[in-house]
Amino acid sequence: MEITSFFTLCLLSLASLVCGTGAPKLQPFTFPKTLHEGQTVKAICTPTEGERPLQFQWLKDGHPLMKRPLVDIKTFEDYSLLKVSSVGEKDIGNYTCIVRNHHGSDQFTTSLTIPVGPKWIREPTSVSVSVGNSVTLDCIVGGYPKPIVRWTFHPTTDSGTAEVKSMTFKEHFQVAINGSLIITSVQQEDTGNYKCTGSNGIGNDVTKMITLSLYVPARFEEKFDVKRIHRGDSAKLECDARGDNPMTITWNKDNIRLSRVDTSRYQIFDRTTEGGMLSEIQVHGVDRSDNGLFTCLAKNTYGEDQRTIKMIVLEPPSAPSDVRVDQAWSRSISVTWTVPYSGNSPVNKYLIQYWRNQGAPHRLEEVTVSSAQTSTILRELQPGTSYVVRVIAENNVGKGTPSENRRFLTKEEEPSAPPTDVQVEARGAGTFHIKWKAPSKDHWNGQLKGYYVGYKEKASTDSYSYKLVPFSEGLAEEYLLRHLLKNTEYGIVVRAFNDAGTGPESQEILKRTKDSDPPPPPSLWVSAQSETTITINWEQSSDIISHYILFYKEDSGTWTEVTIPQTEKKVYTLQGLRAGSVYHLYLQAASQIGNSNPSETVSVKTDGAKGPMKWNFHAVITGEEELPVYLRLPVLAPLAASVAIIVFALVLSCVYVKKEQRRYNRAMEAVTEKIYPYSMNGTLPHRYVDLEKTRPLLQPPPPPPMFPLPPPPPPDDYPASSSTLPVNGNNNNSGDRRRLKKGREPKSNEGSIDSRRQGGGNMIQERAEVHHYDEAA
Ligand SMILES: *[C@@H]1O[C@H](CO)[C@@H](O)[C@H](O)[C@H]1NC(C)=O
Ligand SMILES: *[C@@H]1O[C@H](CO)[C@@H](O)[C@H](O)[C@H]1NC(C)=O
Repeated sequence: MEITSFFTLCLLSLASLVCGTGAPKLQPFTFPKTLHEGQTVKAICTPTEGERPLQFQWLKDGHPLMKRPLVDIKTFEDYSLLKVSSVGEKDIGNYTCIVRNHHGSDQFTTSLTIPVGPKWIREPTSVSVSVGNSVTLDCIVGGYPKPIVRWTFHPTTDSGTAEVKSMTFKEHFQVAINGSLIITSVQQEDTGNYKCTGSNGIGNDVTKMITLSLYVPARFEEKFDVKRIHRGDSAKLECDARGDNPMTITWNKDNIRLSRVDTSRYQIFDRTTEGGMLSEIQVHGVDRSDNGLFTCLAKNTYGEDQRTIKMIVLEPPSAPSDVRVDQAWSRSISVTWTVPYSGNSPVNKYLIQYWRNQGAPHRLEEVTVSSAQTSTILRELQPGTSYVVRVIAENNVGKGTPSENRRFLTKEEEPSAPPTDVQVEARGAGTFHIKWKAPSKDHWNGQLKGYYVGYKEKASTDSYSYKLVPFSEGLAEEYLLRHLLKNTEYGIVVRAFNDAGTGPESQEILKRTKDSDPPPPPSLWVSAQSETTITINWEQSSDIISHYILFYKEDSGTWTEVTIPQTEKKVYTLQGLRAGSVYHLYLQAASQIGNSNPSETVSVKTDGAKGPMKWNFHAVITGEEELPVYLRLPVLAPLAASVAIIVFALVLSCVYVKKEQRRYNRAMEAVTEKIYPYSMNGTLPHRYVDLEKTRPLLQPPPPPPMFPLPPPPPPDDYPASSSTLPVNGNNNNSGDRRRLKKGREPKSNEGSIDSRRQGGGNMIQERAEVHHYDEAA
């Protein structure tokens, strides 16, 4: 090689010496300035001087250019021609032509440039990454001149319009030299559309929009919530989870899984949203059992999260329990209770409601106390009265249910008013018939136990002597005051008493006893009886009798009265009675002066088995034997019809009475069940029965006979008087026995007063006076 070079060099220097000409010199050449891809370009490499032979060589960018398709090199003796067909980007470069001869060489370089629009070398594609990871978004664009790659960011906005944002302000963004966008630690806000544009001013830009998205784990923005719902309202508990779908949400209440199929109480609704999933529970008619912690757990492939909702059901407070009357006085009581369940809203106050539990109507009284108190004192109550009290708690939600009713009794006070309508009637030589009415109930101040009938001679300066009259159910009372002096003026007062003491005196009434007595009562006995008749006999010592009056009744019947003319026989037969029934009879003798006291009551049972009631005719006086009226034919037919009607009416009324009785029994059960056995002094609980209701069902007292006056005292109402004209020694006792039948105290008047010692010290003195007076009489 070195030999060849040396030889060539010797040749060149020899030729220049021989020819006398120098080295070759090239004429400049260029490619056309404006080229398009696909055109054919030519370049001629021509030396202006130089000794032949000439050698030509072409280089592209310093490298020898070979003949190949689309590149043609034609070399002639004194020039060389380069032809490039259908030029493209690959042909861009510096082209050099070198010419040589023996004397030397020359070269010339010119550039071939073709503008080439941007072309994709690697397009970007949409990707998803997890938060915090890095991502490289490639965007390699070819072209000449070298295209500039630009990235723009188009976050998806709610309106859907693309907002272009420069990349530069984001620190963790970096565009590589090759055009790739490198994002380190991708955040949620980096998600969106990215557009890569390559441009070099030639032709059309290349552009591509891709989406960068995140894999989003399930997650709740708000982890805890509190729901306050009024009881009875509907509630909606929401769990709005963010994250990639598919996602599942499960619910627990107080750590117990809520089933989606159990629709009885909690209905669960799910729906997917743009950013995740929404699950909600609906509850209708919220109640106390819904208080608690509801948790929802959202899960997807990338993670899970939990949210807790505390449900607080607001409601009025519960009923205060354990309501008690601790102490009761006559006009006030103290009541206590225990704090109830507040209903998740603090109690503001308590309402204490109370009303009288006897008589009608009941006026509701109400006292309000602060929530700090659990006891109070109710004042201005009526003494000796049954009340009902209950307590209601109230909070911001409203009034709670009332507590159970508690009954209580205030302590009694002595009656505060005297008996009213006191009437005194002189009857016989030493007897007053005294009638009065109980004071109005407002003034009883407890349960009346009886009355003291006080009396004294008008002229006397002594205090009153008193007789005790037990209280009777009927509000009209009467008493026969006996053993008084004849034709003497007395002052009469009446006082009511109860367990607490004795009330004020009624206004004194002055009355004079009569001078003479009516005839003594007849002495009565039964001489015979059959199935339908009773025959009585009697004796009468007085001979001023005008006629007799016979009273009789069946056991449960009412008194019937028969007038018997004065006869010598003193015998009488009652007819048309019912077989096998007990009858009570007594007789009074009537005279011009007045009627005798009633005879003793005799009771007798008719013969035979108990049979149907027969039509009760006025009896026929014994001895005048004749066909009974009811056997006479003209009477018999209408009579039978009447009997049939009466029997029918009786059956109807029996059915009605039975029905009413059952209804009443039920009502009574209801009343007695509610009775609160509260008792102030530890004695047996009182039974409270509304007298107004029960009274119509009580046996009505026998109607007083129309004639003659004075009315015969029915044996159950008050004792027969025999003070002025005693028929026998134990007549007085018989009166007391009748009282015993009514369950009254089995004590004589004097003994009863003795037992009323609490009525006051003066009462004992008065008792002594009673004795004195009675003995004197
Ligand atoms: C061609 O030559 C010019 C000037 O010397 C230079 O700037 C350019 O980079 C060259 N082109 C190539 C493709 O080598
Ligand atoms: C572009 O450059 C970046 C950074 O230098 C590199 O990570 C990436 O792989 C390159 N892309 C291509 C297609 O060469």
